[in-house]
Amino acid sequence: MTSPRELTELINSFLAQIPYPAHPAELYSPIRYTLETGGKRLRPILMLSVIDALGGDVSQGLSQAAAIEIFHNFTLVHDDVMDNAQVRRGRPTVFHKWGRDTAILSGDTMLTLAYEYMTSCPDNILRPLLELFNRTAIEVYEGQQLDMEFENRDDVSVDEYIHMIRLKTSVLLACACELGAIVAGASEQTRKAFYSYGTSMGLAFQLRDDYLDTYGDPLIFGKQIGGDIINDKKTWLYITALNEDVSGELKRIIASKPDAQNKIEAVRSFYDSLNLPERICSLIEQYTEQAVKSLNSIEIKPGWKEYFTSLATDLNKRSL
Ligand code: IPE
Ligand code: IPE
Ligand code: MG
Ligand code: MG
Ligand code: MG
Repeated sequence: MTSPRELTELINSFLAQIPYPAHPAELYSPIRYTLETGGKRLRPILMLSVIDALGGDVSQGLSQAAAIEIFHNFTLVHDDVMDNAQVRRGRPTVFHKWGRDTAILSGDTMLTLAYEYMTSCPDNILRPLLELFNRTAIEVYEGQQLDMEFENRDDVSVDEYIHMIRLKTSVLLACACELGAIVAGASEQTRKAFYSYGTSMGLAFQLRDDYLDTYGDPLIFGKQIGGDIINDKKTWLYITALNEDVSGELKRIIASKPDAQNKIEAVRSFYDSLNLPERICSLIEQYTEQAVKSLNSIEIKPGWKEYFTSLATDLNKRSL
């Protein structure tokens, strides 16, 4: 059993040896900058762990694991433009450091690189890999579009929110898991079970991200705290607060157009008054349990259910 830490090292060494042309430096430097700054490497860890759990050879999936991490980083570079974000992983975003146009083009280049590494595989798995990856990529873009549209709506339901985070976040974790199952030559049933595991884990993961965006420690989380509140993002916290806002207090806060810091503080105190931090954490636990249950339908070697259980549990208690 290869540990998540060892898998992180494998993926980091793979990413570090990618040869980038020297010119144009303004195109390639942001890519190197983004990929060298770490991140949790969750998606490749998931993919490689599934290969390992199914008795496959982890080294056979390294190129695809790199591909999914590069794709994820491409979505972050573009997401920071859409969210007007200045800080990521404790450093200036590509958008902030190099500007919007470079963020778009370096992001586009990363997407193409992701395809290059994804398609470097034996012919017999090329088609299923690409079908899953293409479908997933389009779903992520759909989710990102809904995320932005929701900023301008005040009637977003919890169901719509869950649908949106399933698209923008969960499907990529689910895809990572299923790609691992494809590389390992698993049955359809095993592929689907790992896909469900990734989906529920992804919902918990985005809920935790939204929680940390309001309640995290900026030095650990590495992103600006309160960005979601400033951007009127329709998170579970915001939607639930609005649904339970009997006296119209949240509406009054928003209507008074406070400056950023006052807005963050006022909205956060309103969330606190409804006990939302504890309530979102228990929702996260429910999705984590659902993730773990998904694996009951498949046979995996002893020790692996515990491995995937602690992976899901640790991630959804994380501070970064
Ligand atoms: C950030 O993803 C975007 C979300 C889907 C919440 P991660 O939290 O996995 O980001 P890194 O790669 O670890 O920085
Ligand atoms: C982003 O969600 C999901 C994708 C990049 C597809 P967020 O906008 O919440 O991610 P962060 O918080 O900026 O990492
Ligand atoms: Mg976003
Ligand atoms: Mg963002
Ligand atoms: Mg976020």
